[in-house]
Amino acid sequence: MNAISESDIRRACLPAPDPLKSARGSIRSGQPPMSVAEILAEIERIADLPLSRSETLPAQAYTSQEFFDWEIDNLFKNDWICLGHVSQIPSIGDFLNVEVLGEPVVVVRDKENGINVLSRVCPHRAMDIMPPGFGYDGHGPAEAKEGEPGCGHTRFLLCPYHFWTFELDGKLKACAEMGQAEGFNRDEWGLRSFRSEVWNGFVFVNLDGTAPRTVAEQYATLSDQVAPWLIDDMVMVAQNEWDCAFNWKILTENFMESYHHAGAHSKTLQPMMPARDTWTEEEKPFHIRCHLPMKEELRAEIRAIDEEGRHWETYPPIATLPENERLEWGLVLGYPLFTFVLTGDSVIWYRILPMGPDHLKLLTTILVPRSTTEDPNFEEMNQVATQAAIDFHLEDMEVCMAVQRGLFTAGYQRGRLSHLEMPIWLIQRFLAARGRGTWPTMDRPGAPSQKA
Ligand code: FES
Ligand SMILES: [Fe+2]
Repeated sequence: MNAISESDIRRACLPAPDPLKSARGSIRSGQPPMSVAEILAEIERIADLPLSRSETLPAQAYTSQEFFDWEIDNLFKNDWICLGHVSQIPSIGDFLNVEVLGEPVVVVRDKENGINVLSRVCPHRAMDIMPPGFGYDGHGPAEAKEGEPGCGHTRFLLCPYHFWTFELDGKLKACAEMGQAEGFNRDEWGLRSFRSEVWNGFVFVNLDGTAPRTVAEQYATLSDQVAPWLIDDMVMVAQNEWDCAFNWKILTENFMESYHHAGAHSKTLQPMMPARDTWTEEEKPFHIRCHLPMKEELRAEIRAIDEEGRHWETYPPIATLPENERLEWGLVLGYPLFTFVLTGDSVIWYRILPMGPDHLKLLTTILVPRSTTEDPNFEEMNQVATQAAIDFHLEDMEVCMAVQRGLFTAGYQRGRLSHLEMPIWLIQRFLAARGRGTWPTMDRPGAPSQKA
């Protein structure tokens, strides 16, 4: 696993210039086509099996364009998608550009310190006001921030086509030569604003505006669980972009199950957090929470290092964590796409942006308490932590890409799941409930915790 380099993986991951070109290249899928209704019926069947009899999804759930389109309308556009963290845009005029489900948006902090998620599509003639690679330096007031993909600072928003200018809350501020346009009222021509909400410092968008609950309502129990990390006051200190030639479910499944510590992470994570000790909490309507305890010998070693006045973690441990939280990793999936790892010294957040059945864009990040960034050794620690996060992530990327290729083959067979893969089965149950229109009502008895 270790022979493959970061540049090999990045090259292999790069989708073809045509974003719709699939991971399988030009060869047709070896699996027979299935309709959306057939895929949903099969998901419903397997999601009702007990965990001990659970199976993998049909390959077509990861390869069908029609099913991906169903997911866009039924899982993503009508729910909350996390776009960023407030620490990426700390000052008035700071912005973050993101392409989410085909919508170019800018997340921008306005003069009242409010955070807006605005469409970047100009209300004049549909120009992207800050298209990738254009609209930053030398094109008006916006300046890009180095090392922070999509982030920048500006005084106002400027469309580079005919120079209409917009306030930081999206209102049209000025437009030249429009005096002869009869009935034209400047107040009616702002950038479109999407419904957004900040929860624990994370900025969420609901693209179609129909999510039945606020983020705070749906993640209320999760809020209690993450409270000791004080995430709203954390600072994002690392950001890495990845172009991934695989389905979003391959990533969320891989992210949440730790059975693969024994294989893909046999030299990195397995020696610290063995697969067999990992466990999943009881089923909840809005999120999954898994626990990855450090093995006993390591816990003893960490306590001994503490006593010497040093710390085992790369960054200083988070002082507000109870000991049991510090001595394990916690994995969280807030349905549908909000994924992060809680560790003793940081939070590792993954921004997942589905692009097609076999394509997603990923941003891997690290958040630490503000006090950590003031440590005299911070730069050095940050380099070590960032590299370690890239190293174990590369192990995941390699398997995820190969799995997607496998799903296109005639040789693919439906698999069976280990009890350690309970999160995969929970994701199936979420998909099934969305398919039958009952989510978030848990219309089946909730599965119990794996820890007595
Ligand atoms: S399209 Fe934006 S100013 Fe014309
Ligand atoms: Fe992994």
